[in-house]
Amino acid sequence: MGLLFARSFVLVTALLVLCLLLPCHAKLSTKFYAKTCPNVESIVRAVMAPAVAAEPRMGASIIRLFFHDCFVNGCDASILLDDTPTLTGEKNAGANANSVRGYEVIDAIKTRVEAACKATVSCADIVALAARDAVNLLRGPTWKVPLGRKDSRTASQSAANANLPGPGSSAASLVAAFAAKGLSAREMTALSGAHTVGRVRCLFFRGRIYGEPNINATFAAARQRTCPQTGGDSNLAPFDDQTPDTFDNAYYTNLVAQRGLMHSDQELFNGGSQDGLVRKYSGNAKIFAGDFAKAMVKMGGLLPAAGTPTEVRLNCRMLN
Ligand code: HEM
Repeated sequence: MGLLFARSFVLVTALLVLCLLLPCHAKLSTKFYAKTCPNVESIVRAVMAPAVAAEPRMGASIIRLFFHDCFVNGCDASILLDDTPTLTGEKNAGANANSVRGYEVIDAIKTRVEAACKATVSCADIVALAARDAVNLLRGPTWKVPLGRKDSRTASQSAANANLPGPGSSAASLVAAFAAKGLSAREMTALSGAHTVGRVRCLFFRGRIYGEPNINATFAAARQRTCPQTGGDSNLAPFDDQTPDTFDNAYYTNLVAQRGLMHSDQELFNGGSQDGLVRKYSGNAKIFAGDFAKAMVKMGGLLPAAGTPTEVRLNCRMLN
């Protein structure tokens, strides 16, 4: 017993010394709230299930919210902060304004979680759990979510503008944007499979359906019916017109059939480095589901830089 204690003491001391020398992130754990908020996962699911049942697109919106949180200085709920006279948040960044949805659902979860476990569970962890549930509620895979993130005390509209890839991106710039976050081209292609659910505004795919050669003609004609050459910028179309609210591998079968909706989507199957992987995912839903789950966990491990001030916010929209 004494020896065991001495060994643990040496190990903890060594870790502490290491943390002083190198950036040391709090380690995430699937059991992080096992003692302090054992029901957090069932509370999140209990809010997400009716929200997605009432409006399946909400599942897609929450998945995207998680991506847009994690890509801007880590998964720290920075995207949830409302603008104030002294804080310019990320909600009005180019990729988020009038586009990212689901803030009210996160608020509803937070209210229930706070009632059960006061000042314990971060908004960033709630978003990570909600995104996992969204995928699964849309009949996609599930996975265990490592927890223990903290909420930021800052936000960065400029980082949101710089880091979130746009719909006109080339394959090379998509690979680069994900590499900048430590994610491989394979992980980028797997994560893009989230575009098997959700909706896109006409302004983001107009150029493709009227101008690009590598598009299925029937598909382009169908999309043109609700996305005119002028006007109708906000008209919505599903990424996947066969199973728009099912989290399956149809994104990839669509790409192989030149039915990718945005330019950036079809870039993943256009004679480039990701073609083989897109074919593999299109032919094997299980491999896609496994890779997607792993990549979501990895993206969820993006944390703010060491030394960034953080807290567990009481209201996800504002600092404590
Ligand atoms: C690879 C680069 C990506 C680009 C260029 C991109 C771009 C976009 C754009 C432009 C929209 C439509 C926004 C609008 O109409 O207002 C969208 C929607 C969406 N994105 Fe992405 N995205 C990318 C990657 C991802 C990733 C990694 C995820 C999640 C893991 C994701 C999940 C979604 C979802 C689910 C929607 C539909 C949201 C809804 O219906 O509310 N995207 N994306």
